[in-house]
Amino acid sequence: MPCTVIVGGFFGDEGKGKIAAYLAMKDKPDICVRGGNGPNAGHTVIHGGVQYSLRLIPSGFVNPSTRLLIGPGVPVDPIVLLDELRKTDSERRIEVDNQCAIVEPRHKEQESRSDHLSKKVGSTKSGVGACNAERALRMAKLAQQIPSLKPYVGDTVGEIQKALSENKKIMIEGTQGTFLSLYHGTYPYVTSKDTTASAACADVGVGPTQVDDVMVIFKAYVTRVGEGPLEGQLDRDEVARRGWTEFGTVTGRERRAAPFDFKLAKRAVQLNGATQIALTKLDVLFPSAKGARRIEDPDKAAKAFVSEIAKQTGVPVMLIGTG
Ligand code: IMP
Repeated sequence: MPCTVIVGGFFGDEGKGKIAAYLAMKDKPDICVRGGNGPNAGHTVIHGGVQYSLRLIPSGFVNPSTRLLIGPGVPVDPIVLLDELRKTDSERRIEVDNQCAIVEPRHKEQESRSDHLSKKVGSTKSGVGACNAERALRMAKLAQQIPSLKPYVGDTVGEIQKALSENKKIMIEGTQGTFLSLYHGTYPYVTSKDTTASAACADVGVGPTQVDDVMVIFKAYVTRVGEGPLEGQLDRDEVARRGWTEFGTVTGRERRAAPFDFKLAKRAVQLNGATQIALTKLDVLFPSAKGARRIEDPDKAAKAFVSEIAKQTGVPVMLIGTG
């Protein structure tokens, strides 16, 4: 803080929801703003014993005094948004930018009909790619045209810029992961937008010089849903044996898994201009780390792994996930 961007370092599902929620409680940002792509993204937050699977609302909602914004670059599905507003009880503190593009049911139908997206890319078929394509053609509807969103729309960029000028704390939440970026990922097995920190800033109307920190999130092993290359991929039995089996938040699909990839991590740090790393699920790789509160607590092997990540990327590991 004051202005921090949070992004995924691999293929999504690194645990951005958890980290964003943790920072929202600890650093108490005045504003949490969602950049990144639309409701194809899934962020899981467990708070007060309740599990939330969010696709649009910023994960920072867990702090009740934080203002919640959705930037103009984020495609919004009103059905998903209204449902999440109700579930998180955040109607009174959300603002959706006037200029968010609208994901319509026909976008989902369009994607479901496409063999290319279903079979080749392994899309979530949430309609987000079709919406982004339509926006590029300048034919998509915007949030300001949708009656059901009327109570929630406004100029989020104006609000963020005012907050920045008053030196308030802002957390920008990205989505998916660096290698699902339309530009920097494993095309065509990618999502329909750039997903790096620069894109998240553009999505919410914050310039590069206005950012203080970029936190890139890595999981202690790499997972991927949908199609596309995954170097070092283990077979299903081995993934289960290691306790790495996971399922997607949005689609429920089983994730493929591979060991931590230092080469990808280095590249992700460069592409995002990262200044900090958060490492999740350290306890899955090193059971001795379970429940550890400080980086000094886990055993030697776990500490060496964390140090190696910092050494190879040149960026400090500031947070570890241990349960
Ligand atoms: P789409 O963006 O829904 O069209 O999906 C394109 C690719 O990105 C597919 O491989 C999806 O599995 C992947 N993808 C999209 N959103 C997420 C996410 O939030 N987490 C992980 N993978 C995602």
